[in-house]
Order: sequence, then C-alpha cells, then structure tokens
Amino acid sequence: MPAAGASVLLLRACLALLASPIYLLSFLGMWEPFCRKIFFPFILDKLSVIHDKKSKKHKQELFRNLPDFRGPSGALRLLEIGTGSGANFQFYPPGCRVTCTDINPGFQEGLARNMKKNEHLQFERFVVAAGEDLGQVPSGSVDVVVATLVLCSVSSVGSTLREVLRVLRPGGAFYFLEHVAAEHSSWRYFWQQVCYPTWKLVFAGCCLTRELWKDLEEAKFSELKIQHISVAMPWMPIKPHIVGYGVK
Ligand SMILES: C[S@@+](CC[C@H](N)C(=O)[O-])C[C@H]1O[C@@H](n2cnc3c(N)ncnc32)[C@H](O)[C@@H]1O
Repeated sequence: MPAAGASVLLLRACLALLASPIYLLSFLGMWEPFCRKIFFPFILDKLSVIHDKKSKKHKQELFRNLPDFRGPSGALRLLEIGTGSGANFQFYPPGCRVTCTDINPGFQEGLARNMKKNEHLQFERFVVAAGEDLGQVPSGSVDVVVATLVLCSVSSVGSTLREVLRVLRPGGAFYFLEHVAAEHSSWRYFWQQVCYPTWKLVFAGCCLTRELWKDLEEAKFSELKIQHISVAMPWMPIKPHIVGYGVK
C-alpha cells in the first residue's frame, strides 16, 4: 500500500467510522463468512451487470483471438481463475472446454445460471482453489488461462502468475482485464488511497492501488500485450484498467 498523507488518513478514519458496524463484525470474526457466502456474491451480481455492460466491447476485442490458442488436438482447454458467476462465458468460442476455479464456492447460483445460458461451452469441472495454488491442475495442461477483476484480490500476484505459467502449455496464453492504481497525481488516486482499507474489508480483499502491469511485465511471458484503458464507471474507484494477454 502506498504512503498516505495526513488528509488521506483523516478521510480514511471518517470512512472507517461510517463503516464501523462492518469493522465491529470483522473484529468479532462474523463479517468475513457473511461477506464470502452472502454479501459479496449478491453485490457482485448487481455490480457486474453495470461493469459487464461497460466492458463488453473491450472483452469482445480481448477474447477475439482465443481460437488461435487451440491445442494440437483442435480443442481449446480454458481455465478461469476467480470465475465468480461466469461473466466471461459469453465471450468464449463454441466447444471451448472450460474449467472454473474460485477461492469462494459461494457463487454457485449465478454460476449455474450462466452455465445454462452458455450451452455452446463444455464445462469440465469446478475447482475450489486460490489462484496462488492451483495444485489440482496438472502442469502444462491448459491452452488458455483467464482472470478478470481477480488479481486485485489475490494475496500474492507473483505466486498467482507463477501458477498461471505452470498450468499453461508452452505457447498458451493468459488473458486478463484488471482495474489498477490511477495516475499518482490524480484525484482518483487520492480517493483510491482514502477508500483502500474500508474497500478491501467490504469487498473481500479487493485492493484499489495495485500497479499490476508491473507484475505482468516481471512475470516470464515470452510475449506480452497490455493496453491501458478506462472502462467508463465515473463514480467508482475501480478505474483505470489494463487489458491484454501474455504468451508462455
Ligand atoms: C470481482 S470478482 C470477479 C469475478 C469474475 N472474474 C468477473 O469478472 O466477473 C473477483 C473474484 O475473484 C475471486 N478470488 C478472490 N481471491 C481469489 C484467489 N486468491 N484465488 C482465486 N480467486 C479469487 C473471488 O472469489 C471472486 O469470484
């Protein structure tokens, strides 16, 4: 987390005061289970309606060349990290063999709904696992890994990217769309710093100020395409974004 000035600390304290019931529940060990099972799946369902609409054209463009990464057998074996309710299924090509993974199994309802809506896909299995430890997935066994709005929440971005590279076959690709820290001199970055601790608590570990393009550049992809974009969500601190893919 970046260093914060006095005004940031003061505003943080005000926000924490407003959210004090949540801090209290967290202190009593009651917030995290409630957040994981009920609050986060519910709120994500509502927020993703807006985010999906705004990011649709970026995702269409991002996933357009997915078929280029089909394996030698002609199949496209895709593993998604932090699948949530499956907002990306509609962008995967027909016949794509999808493995869903998430640290939180609380999204079953939305996931089942989206699986039903996307009969053009072959769903292989759902693995409850953190992106940092995909031990249940054999090395070199998938053609494509996808993570959208997930790297903000993993406890270690470096370990997650190492796991991505391990499970990908040589020549396979990692697709991402993530929100990142705003320009340091901007008001948005100021508010990202103010909201940071409370936002992280309320939204299941989501960090607002990660400079994820740096982690991606440091990971050992043989080719990396990153675009800095802004999905139009004027009143939200989850902006700007990076979108692209890295080839193993
Ligand atoms: C903001 S949601 C995004 C869901 C979906 N990818 C989308 O774009 O709508 C973040 C997702 O990442 C999952 N997640 C958080 N930490 C994770 C971790 N360490 N490993 C795997 N998934 C994680 C959450 O459970 C949640 O499903």
